[in-house]
Amino acid sequence: MIFQPIKQLLSEEYVGRRVCLRGWIYRRSVVGGKAFVRVRDSTGIIQVVVDESNLGEELVKTLKDIGLEASVEACGKLVKQPKAPTGFEVIADYFNIVGTSRDFPIKGGEGVEYLLDNRHLVLRSPRYTAIWKIKHTVLEAGREWFNKNGWWEVTPPILTASACEGGATLFPVQYFDKVAYLSQSAQLYLEVMIFSLEKVWSLTPSFRAEQSRTRRHLAEYWHLEAEAAWYDMNDMMKVAEELVAHIVSRVLEERRSELEQLGRNIESLKKAVETPYPRIKYDEAIEILQKKGLNIQWGADLGADEERVLTQEFDKPFFVTHFPKEIKSFYMKLDPGNPRVVLGFDLLAPEGYGEIIGGSQREDDYSKLVQRIIESGYKVEDYKWYLDLRRYGSVVHSGFGLGVERVLMWIAGLEHIRDATPFPRFRGRIYP
Ligand code: 4AD
Ligand code: MG
Repeated sequence: MIFQPIKQLLSEEYVGRRVCLRGWIYRRSVVGGKAFVRVRDSTGIIQVVVDESNLGEELVKTLKDIGLEASVEACGKLVKQPKAPTGFEVIADYFNIVGTSRDFPIKGGEGVEYLLDNRHLVLRSPRYTAIWKIKHTVLEAGREWFNKNGWWEVTPPILTASACEGGATLFPVQYFDKVAYLSQSAQLYLEVMIFSLEKVWSLTPSFRAEQSRTRRHLAEYWHLEAEAAWYDMNDMMKVAEELVAHIVSRVLEERRSELEQLGRNIESLKKAVETPYPRIKYDEAIEILQKKGLNIQWGADLGADEERVLTQEFDKPFFVTHFPKEIKSFYMKLDPGNPRVVLGFDLLAPEGYGEIIGGSQREDDYSKLVQRIIESGYKVEDYKWYLDLRRYGSVVHSGFGLGVERVLMWIAGLEHIRDATPFPRFRGRIYP
């Protein structure tokens, strides 16, 4: 028996021929001596008809009682069937139950916590299959962009000794007889690597001990980061927008049917393929928000609500730049023309999604960086190695980090970041 992917069978080519397939029972109904079994595999869904006059009463009876998600294999003639959900069906002459299933616990209509407890089974739903395929293409396109444009992939550590993005979200871990932390960002290590490789990127898990459960924060997420010597903030913003445009265009090319399956508005996504993306300064962002009636003052950070309101002004991703230094990290270079703000940028996705990338030009002056480390409440000795990069051949350099699940959320049109990763980690849960 040669089993074919179900997707291949959904075509005129095999009509009238005997085909074999295997997968899991997605839905089934039994009507007057016939079982209509919808089988899914990783590629699609097809209806298989099991007729008792052909394959026996016993089998049809078993199929009537069997639970969803039993694994099966079947062979038979492929016919066109406009009434079947995917337009074709297989009239079985052979049908075998490989692994039975009884009372599959997901029936529809269950609550959030119950579904999270059963995540290992919920993940079989075709909706998630579509999401993971889009994520695959997002990752592949990201790698492809860097590799085609002369960037080196490097492998930074996950166990780290010092904070990159502030002590509040650090996860401590026992490291022999010391305390270490899970990495929040590869940035500081990428900065080391640019002094030899010049243009580097990495894809790693990043960890944030976020105290609140929100729709866009995970405690563990995939982080695609870039860092380059000789690049100023503008050079790096161009990298960020070209990368995102490439990812979107690849997904539109290769994952169109998955986007449609998820009900994504393709036309609005297409706008993100065209670069450059608009740029506004933090000052303008505050003005826009105040004009729209929000109670926000210069100096305040932009939260999810503020970002959502800003995204109404744009129909494609856009940059917000030059934030007050107090709300950004110690390593961002102060704007020489206005040292109250940093040469930092966020890239916000439209349609309410908000921040998908955070980046900046880095402080490359030794004494200014020492001052920023002290102001931020860190110990200078913890960052001796990082400061050394400014003592031996310092250069202008910049970088950014892209949150893979944030990008996927936007591209796939998801409501919640938990749907952008198979095993979400957030406060209060580490199961399964
Ligand atoms: O803006 P962030 O904190 O910037 C950094 O970590 C820099 N060190 C990156 C760099 O310059 N190399 O994080 C970067 C991106 C955010 O824009 C967001 O997309 C994502 O990481 N991110 C999260 N995604 C999911 N859950 C969280 N808790 C996230 N925190 C940040
Ligand atoms: Mg940020």
